[in-house]
Amino acid sequence: MKNIVLIGFMGVGKGSVAREVIKHSDYVAIDTDDLIESMENRKVKEIFESEGEKYFRKLEKKVAKWLEKSVQNTLISTGGGFYKQENLKKIGLIILLDSPFDAIIKRIKAHPNAAKKLKKRPLLSDLEAAKKLYDERRPEYLKLADIVIDVTDKSAKECAKELLKKVKKHG
Ligand code: S3P
Repeated sequence: MKNIVLIGFMGVGKGSVAREVIKHSDYVAIDTDDLIESMENRKVKEIFESEGEKYFRKLEKKVAKWLEKSVQNTLISTGGGFYKQENLKKIGLIILLDSPFDAIIKRIKAHPNAAKKLKKRPLLSDLEAAKKLYDERRPEYLKLADIVIDVTDKSAKECAKELLKKVKKHG
């Protein structure tokens, strides 16, 4: 069992899908933002505010190196910008959770904790800038992905089932 690396834009549902995958498989899940928050003992939002994005990206790099060297048989969900790590392909099988920008925003806004979900993501505070970032990143996500899952209008459970089926087929 190789690592699975979940990539995709903010709010696409990487965490929710990861939680469903572990319910239906032997995988254990970790999340790069959670690792960074525990390393720093503060929230991603606070790291962005006090140290800036560059510092956060350095922490992602450290995590990426550690994942490549030390982690196996694990489902790794990543922050939306983690895909830029140059050793990403060496960490595991890359799975993109894909959805149009408008559907992602609709999904976040429909969540009971919508305000919290938007607040904790500094790069979503300006929706116009976020759309620009999405347009820049989407072709790069697609280029890197070994497997693509269109998550639009699907539940996390449906996505998880599709993911496990595709991983099995991929071998
Ligand atoms: C970021 C996505 C966030 C988090 C940070 C930066 C990005 O994670 O890592 O706010 O650059 O897209 P989620 O994708 O889990 O929101």
